[in-house]
Amino acid sequence: MSAISIKTSEDIAGMRIAGKLAAEVLDFIEPHIKAGITTGEIDRLCHEYMVNVQQSIPAPLNYCPPGYTPYPKAICTSVNDVVCHGIPGDKLLKNGDVINIDITVIKNGYHGDTSRMFYVGPPSILAKRLGEITYECMWLGISKIKPGAFLGDIGFVIQQHAEKAGFSVVREFCGHGIGKVFHEEPQVLHYGRPGTLEQLVAGMIFTVEPMINAGRRDIREMGDGWTIKTKDRSLSAQWEHTVLVTETGYEVLTVSPGMPSPPAIISEQHASSPAAIA
Ligand code: MF3
Ligand code: CO
Ligand code: CO
Repeated sequence: MSAISIKTSEDIAGMRIAGKLAAEVLDFIEPHIKAGITTGEIDRLCHEYMVNVQQSIPAPLNYCPPGYTPYPKAICTSVNDVVCHGIPGDKLLKNGDVINIDITVIKNGYHGDTSRMFYVGPPSILAKRLGEITYECMWLGISKIKPGAFLGDIGFVIQQHAEKAGFSVVREFCGHGIGKVFHEEPQVLHYGRPGTLEQLVAGMIFTVEPMINAGRRDIREMGDGWTIKTKDRSLSAQWEHTVLVTETGYEVLTVSPGMPSPPAIISEQHASSPAAIA
């Protein structure tokens, strides 16, 4: 039985603010992502920025879904073969590393959730291609969002694009509805078939956050109860936005001055079918 909440205009206004703040934490931290910094220092800087500059609350800190232990830090830092939920600590970044930084803030009770990939020094050809394909996967999924579309339409384009590139889609984690609650219905799978699962209605808000592996899709959980790595130790990448279904399409809520532009494949799509634009 599905119970996807439809946000009120008040909710939407609150979610725009939370989304912008989450994206602005990523803008703030970007210049610090260099060889020699630890993931713990990145966490400390983001935590202080949220609490002292934004007066926002880091949603991950002490977050404790059923079956988990409380998450000990303010952000997630997932380096190289870490798929997601990497816990910041004494890990020192070195040139050639790739890192996903995932930020969720709470402001006035509303959650904004977004993540980006960063390269430490020049990336390998594979790391760059994996990052770019994953970014395209997220945007291709987002570009399907409009009233009447199906959740399966989103998963399908993401899976198709990732697998065509020779990469694989992680199945165990997915996007999610979000609002006053961090993770709510629906589950937004990053694989699937067009025309399946729930139909979208204006006022729904959910994340699109594909995790794409350079090797096989299998994962393993580390002993800390949170960190997820690829089983074959291949690189993994992830990008995430929080998105509102509008009357005509979509609105990305996790926007900021420093956010990367949509990839060329999306601009081209929009140029050929302007009606698809939110
Ligand atoms: N931000 C993650 C997501 O996109 C969730 C992290 S849960 C945490 O859904 F506790 F690990 F922070
Ligand atoms: Co999320
Ligand atoms: Co997130």
